[in-house]
Amino acid sequence: MKKYLFPMILLVAVGLISTTTEKEQRSATGDRIVSTMKMNGEEVVLELPEVLDNYTEIDIPDHYAFYEEFADPSNPGVEVTDAGATLGRVLFYDRNLSKNRTVSCGSCHIQENGFADPNTFSEGFDGVKGHRNALGIADIGFNFYPTLLWDEREADLETMVLMPLQDGKEMGITLDELLERVNESDYYPDLFATAFGDSEITNQRIANAMAQFLSSFKVVNTELDQAIANNNQADWPQQLLEGRDLFVSHCFSCHSTIVPQAEADALVPSLPFFESLIGPHNTGLYLEYGEDQGLGNHTASPADNGVFKTPSLKNVALTAPYMHDGSLETLEDVIDFYSDEVQPHPNSTFNSQPYYSPLDLPQPFVGFDLGDDEKAALLAFMETFTDHSFIEDPKFSDPFRTVMTTDSESLVNSSLNVFPNPMSVSATIQMDDASKKIYTVRLMDASGKVVFDQLADDSSFTLERGSLPSGMYMMKIWTDDGISTQKMMIE
Ligand code: HEC
Ligand code: HEC
Repeated sequence: MKKYLFPMILLVAVGLISTTTEKEQRSATGDRIVSTMKMNGEEVVLELPEVLDNYTEIDIPDHYAFYEEFADPSNPGVEVTDAGATLGRVLFYDRNLSKNRTVSCGSCHIQENGFADPNTFSEGFDGVKGHRNALGIADIGFNFYPTLLWDEREADLETMVLMPLQDGKEMGITLDELLERVNESDYYPDLFATAFGDSEITNQRIANAMAQFLSSFKVVNTELDQAIANNNQADWPQQLLEGRDLFVSHCFSCHSTIVPQAEADALVPSLPFFESLIGPHNTGLYLEYGEDQGLGNHTASPADNGVFKTPSLKNVALTAPYMHDGSLETLEDVIDFYSDEVQPHPNSTFNSQPYYSPLDLPQPFVGFDLGDDEKAALLAFMETFTDHSFIEDPKFSDPFRTVMTTDSESLVNSSLNVFPNPMSVSATIQMDDASKKIYTVRLMDASGKVVFDQLADDSSFTLERGSLPSGMYMMKIWTDDGISTQKMMIE
């Protein structure tokens, strides 16, 4: 028996070595490493699947069949191919396309937040913030209502996607710089050739590929969709049914894209006929809207003051904060607003009787005056608009991954102490010199996913473990003295 031991150990060792080399070319998910690059001092790999992901054959449930009738034939949108959308995915997440290579579209449109931004106002490439909350774009592929941005100033997705790139606060590059950046990267020629037949790179093709990727965003597998498809709403708990009926009578006329308007009778068979109010509205969020008048700012018509796009509510439980200025932090706050805090702005749609005749709202309208049970029911129903399969779908995720480099084992920044490491409950990060500050602490798990990202503003910072699982993490700390990287072990 003993004489077999050595060859067996050898075999196991060879096995281990070959899997490690294998890993150098393939990620855990079997993706192919297309390129390795340095981005702001970090080592980043671009990984794409061996076989193109499927962006074209989306399984659209029958209750969206009416969708075709509602699509605007004069705005057919872009034609999506798997190779085009794959190129679009790379462009969408490529931080090289912002002035200092720090921000991509995906920095403000975050998949796990329904492609919205949890910050009230998003930070652009140089840390300057805009004045509007990032719109969740998870359902942008359905052009039920193809007007874009909070003030609806753009209707064409292919034109719009180039705007954030050139925006002075967002990504800050010119169209010429865009071409340079795309041309200088080794991974684009092949991606363009697969998408367009040859490797020529033009701004029009960049815009088209990004629009293809976004056009494949269709949220059709929410809990509500499943209930309609399986016709099992009758089995729902009473609270959900109550929430559904409240939503249909109070909210659905404007927010009808949770399912197409024509499916209203599938949602609630006894629905009174509504003329759809899908489109921009003044909801009476304020009596005085201040500088941001929404639609009014660019049409210059007083009737458009305070009028904003009606956002899609698909995945709304994930897209906090809410409204064009992110002023309502939670869905509870939104419900409280519609219940008790609606302002009687002269343009408020709620003050316009012909629209709301089925409800015969008291005028001036100041809210639906909901009870606590009704509020809870409405909240529960809105939570059925979440599509977990979409939020977790790897084909919409960031294909760039920051890898742990070996030099990250030691502190780059010697004036910083991190203890204890390994940590179990919490760890302290401290500058030697108390007059210096720690600005940001970020933790990434072994796959490169950011699991903790917090602003700091002091010479010491306490990192709480929270619900993070045990394992090896990479920590990045921004300080007065530069950026430090080190491995962090959680026991
Ligand atoms: C710095 C943050 C930031 C970056 C970077 C960014 N966006 Fe946005 N995005 C926003 C904000 C804020 C809005 C709402 C702006 C408005 O309405 O004026 C928005 C709106 C949109 C909309 C309109 C959605 C709708 O329903 O009308 C689309 C589409 C979009 N962004 C796509 C992109 C793409 C593509 C990129 C990359 C080229 C990108 N964004 C980069 C913050 C950002
Ligand atoms: C008259 C049309 C209309 C009705 C009715 C309406 N809404 Fe809205 N809703 C809007 C508009 C327009 C906005 C954006 C307003 C803004 O940002 O100033 C909005 C914003 C929201 C948001 C924020 C979404 C985001 O991504 O920021 C939520 C949540 C919401 N509404 C839920 C509801 C609920 C719940 C009801 C019923 C109680 C309701 N709405 C009734 C038009 C309407």
